[in-house]
Amino acid sequence: MGAPVKTTREMLLEHLKQSGGNWVSGAWLSRELGVSRAAVNKHVRHLQKVGYPIATSTRKGYLLGGPFDLVLPEEIRDGLRTRIFGAGDIVFLDVTDSTNLRAKDLAAGGASEGTIVLAEMQTAGRGRKGRGWFSPPRQGIYVSLILRPAMTPSEAPGITLMTGVAAAEALLSLTDLDVRIRWPNDLMVGGRKIAGILTEISTEMDRIDHVVVGLGVNVNNRYEDLHPQIRESATSVLIETGQVLARAGLIRAILEHFETSYAVFSQKGFEPFRQRWKELSGIIGRCIVVEMIGRTLAGEVLDIDPEGILILRDDQGRRHRIVSGDVSDRSDASKPARRARRRS
Ligand code: BTN
Repeated sequence: MGAPVKTTREMLLEHLKQSGGNWVSGAWLSRELGVSRAAVNKHVRHLQKVGYPIATSTRKGYLLGGPFDLVLPEEIRDGLRTRIFGAGDIVFLDVTDSTNLRAKDLAAGGASEGTIVLAEMQTAGRGRKGRGWFSPPRQGIYVSLILRPAMTPSEAPGITLMTGVAAAEALLSLTDLDVRIRWPNDLMVGGRKIAGILTEISTEMDRIDHVVVGLGVNVNNRYEDLHPQIRESATSVLIETGQVLARAGLIRAILEHFETSYAVFSQKGFEPFRQRWKELSGIIGRCIVVEMIGRTLAGEVLDIDPEGILILRDDQGRRHRIVSGDVSDRSDASKPARRARRRS
């Protein structure tokens, strides 16, 4: 897939960004873009409407202010180094129920691999096991990726684990956070959840038709912005670092890490990610409690196998292979008190 052709609006935005905070005249833009001044003005009005802080002056032209934190497709594409994910369709929704639901509909209708659905806010964000995902506007990342992997359903659980590694690497590349993975699919900082992954698979006979990987990241939420029910169990990049992070940059990093990892996963499965997953989870050798549907198990984690199944030894020395569940530390003294300095 070659570099996508830029629209007039994207080129206009690029000129405004490149002007480095200076005014750009309407006449110059109209010449550069090969459109009328009225058309330039129309595009500017659209950009203002979707959130770009553009000042206008009949004498001086247009000025893009900043900083701004938008997750519009043109912002994601600006500098994105992928060939598949986000390189084709980016479906942006200002408000939606759940990006996973929208992506599943699109995939069922034939949307190609690499299509992504992104929302500024979700009214019914979905988590694992029927839970919700708190999705306030302009603070987090809510994104779903459509995959069409040539593999059997039994190989699919590894996709979640691989995504966890890719998302952790993306966060590590842009922040100095001590990001950890909590099996199977939570990203944690200081014992609190900063991101979650919801993978939904659609099968046909014994093959996968499509997979939707949904990722939610708490980015610029302040402590008081978090829903009271999750204030003590969740955190955000802003709470932990004290700094606002441009969400478009983090989405790009996630897509880039995901695409590289997915290419390896498609050839070799979870095994190449296993060691890094172990490092990031720090779970091997720990005494944990796993809550599963209908039963709870406690014991020491011996390993994660090449398929991503957790191997646990209980107090009677019996081994268990665990495919899915909620993990917590046996003595849940693992969560340190929130440091006041980090609260913003
Ligand atoms: C979990 O931790 O239980 C998984 C949370 C996944 C949340 C994301 S937000 C984007 C995508 N759309 C959803 O409805 N859910 C996922």
